[in-house]
Amino acid sequence: MVDKSDTGLLEGVRRALYINILVCSAISLIVLALTIAALSRYQRQLSQAESRRYEMLCALSHDIRSPHSSILALIETENLQANPPRLTELLCNIKRYAVRALEMAEGFIQLARAETHDYKFELADIGKLLIDASDEIWPQAKQKNIRISIPTCETAYYAYVDRDLMTRVFINLLSNAIKYSPPQASVACRIECYEDRGKYIRCAIQDNGYGIAPQHQTRLFEKFSRFHTVDQPGAEGTGLGLAFVRAVIHGHNGNIRVESAPNTGTTFTISLPVFH
Ligand SMILES: Nc1ncnc2c1ncn2[C@@H]1O[C@H](COP(=O)(O)OP(=O)(O)OP(=O)(O)O)[C@@H](O)[C@H]1O
Ligand SMILES: [Mg+2]
Repeated sequence: MVDKSDTGLLEGVRRALYINILVCSAISLIVLALTIAALSRYQRQLSQAESRRYEMLCALSHDIRSPHSSILALIETENLQANPPRLTELLCNIKRYAVRALEMAEGFIQLARAETHDYKFELADIGKLLIDASDEIWPQAKQKNIRISIPTCETAYYAYVDRDLMTRVFINLLSNAIKYSPPQASVACRIECYEDRGKYIRCAIQDNGYGIAPQHQTRLFEKFSRFHTVDQPGAEGTGLGLAFVRAVIHGHNGNIRVESAPNTGTTFTISLPVFH
């Protein structure tokens, strides 16, 4: 037999328990809401800081670019052949340095843009972007008599990408394949689809050039990393190309890996999710 006072006590305990649960849930909800608000405020501040950094870099690069463009224009107006050899050599050197400074400013702008992650995603055929990139790089390849082969496939490999940035990724990789290969070498591109908890596109750019020593491969994607061995002809560059490539691929939630062996060749393989 249950006493009336026991029932009252039980009811009281149950009510206290309900109130406790309600208060705890309310507190948890308030804490969660505050955390979400703080996180989104932090994310907003971060993206504002990134945009400011990008704008500052653009302004700075513009300020660096205009005097160097003027230097180049002035050199172009000089008739180099009409000058004494010493002066011609000096002007040629100034021209080379001005071109390098311009390339570096351009490299910084591209990298900063890649790091802002302010991308314009649209559906694009990756095979078509690869062809556009190889068209742009063609004069460089022709100069060294290097053949670039791209599969002529019926299939279109569509993915949501920033068309401009992704084309620049391919230009960078193809340009490296040409720069770091001897004349008459060949560059082969492959493209395919695969599934791994989602649809992906895999694209490989393979050269049979000078290759990269294993100890250098870990620092390959760092800014200003350049690895020249004495037996390689010097190739101009700023060392920002692969840092840009990695930033863009990561900005697309993809990944990039390299396989290389000295005097055998190098293959860069990119994996991109079709949807984000
Ligand atoms: N396909 C390749 N074969 C051999 N070495 C390579 C290849 N790609 C890159 N490298 C090495 O990695 C370094 C870094 O490449 P990265 O593209 O970042 O800079 P870069 O080509 O020197 O200059 P740029 O900023 O003009 O691209 C190169 O200097 C080169 O030593
Ligand atoms: Mg490069």
